[in-house]
Amino acid sequence: MTAPETLTDPESLRERALDALTTARDRTALLTSCVEDPELTAQHSPLMSPLVWDLAHIGNQEELWLLRAVAGRDAMRPEIDGLYDAFEHPRAERPSLPLLPPAEARKYAAEVRGRALDVLEGTAFHGTPLTRAGFAFGMIAQHEQQHDETMLITHQLRRGPAALTAPDPAPVPRFTGPSEVLVPGGPFTMGTSTEPWALDNERPAHRRTVPSFFIDTTPVTNAAYLAFIEDGGYGDERWWTAEGWDHVRGHGIEAPLFWRREGGQWLRRRFGVTEVVPPDEPVLHVSWYEADAYARWAGRRLPTEEEWEKAARHDPAADRSRRYPWGDADPTPEHANLGQRHLRPAPAGSYPEGESPLGVRQLIGDVWEWTSSDLAPYPGFAAFPYREYSEVFFGPEYKVLRGGSFAVDQVACRGTFRNWDYPIRRQIFSGFRTARDAGPGSA
Ligand code: AVJ
Ligand code: FE
Repeated sequence: MTAPETLTDPESLRERALDALTTARDRTALLTSCVEDPELTAQHSPLMSPLVWDLAHIGNQEELWLLRAVAGRDAMRPEIDGLYDAFEHPRAERPSLPLLPPAEARKYAAEVRGRALDVLEGTAFHGTPLTRAGFAFGMIAQHEQQHDETMLITHQLRRGPAALTAPDPAPVPRFTGPSEVLVPGGPFTMGTSTEPWALDNERPAHRRTVPSFFIDTTPVTNAAYLAFIEDGGYGDERWWTAEGWDHVRGHGIEAPLFWRREGGQWLRRRFGVTEVVPPDEPVLHVSWYEADAYARWAGRRLPTEEEWEKAARHDPAADRSRRYPWGDADPTPEHANLGQRHLRPAPAGSYPEGESPLGVRQLIGDVWEWTSSDLAPYPGFAAFPYREYSEVFFGPEYKVLRGGSFAVDQVACRGTFRNWDYPIRRQIFSGFRTARDAGPGSA
């Protein structure tokens, strides 16, 4: 794979790490300063931690990996480690813990960061697997950005007036391209062994053979999803798996999260503002069960994870897997809607410069896309640097999401990046696209 040279040169990687850590911290600061301190310690939803927990947890993980593991330093405050261990305390329990108050949490995270930047400057980017190519620094920047997305979800769940605003994506002409493309069958390379900051579950690169299939050129829109609602999709058992049916019936679910019908119109609440559901925008806040039911109603299915990655990375002309749908270059604002630049997905068909060689758009950014696959290790998987990042989640309870949302930063988003969640989850920035088998005659 011919990655940009800046991904192999140690000094470029050091600059990249500094930049990624700084970008993450700027975002964290915004997400934890746009509301008053009492709102940081409140729990806005039992699904989420108080924002002040995320803040100190970000600092604590940075201390664990950059100060203790990389630099061999002693614990700064050993008594707080347990409080910020995600496995010791479930989210619903976190508000009742003796957490660091906002001012102390900020001070702790800032102190860790000051020391971490010294470590960054003084660490050779070769040697141990943790420091090779600056992996630990990249991992910690990704970790902070993942929590920045989590904190944005908390902001979306929070009641009350808007605390955050951002410009809307530029308007685009309605997409008039084909609704699906054929991805010809054959082998491709899935996963990576060369992307320096790819996490353990993305590794190693390996060949997979995928039969021919068709995939949507854009994510499924609100208008398309509304047709499913209006056709009585939520009340028709035929479209649902047994668990999905039990779940939507048991919880009275009849539309995506944050939607309500008023006076013959569908409205949604988005970061404290109620607005008409925009028809051309990718549908957001649907569970795996809803995505799967919609696909069955449409006579289609969700793509598998390998189909998604082949559509996103395989360049048929060169028979090579690339870092992104558009090639190996890092994302720019012309390629994809990433990084919380906008607080919503862009209309379906946006970002022509980000399309794949076969013409599939918005694979990166906008909405996380549910796939039909359970989270499973690749052949040759090795947990690194800790089992609790990925390995403990492998199994049928978790479905894989791909491609990233408007809320994720580019450091934590690439063609190989894997996210996962329970199939009932929909407070996350989740949407989907559909696929179908192509008969042997179509390839
Ligand atoms: C990979 C997004 C499922 O947020 O639970 C954050 C990322 N791991 N801290 C999550 C993560 C540890 C993880 N996801
Ligand atoms: Fe975490």
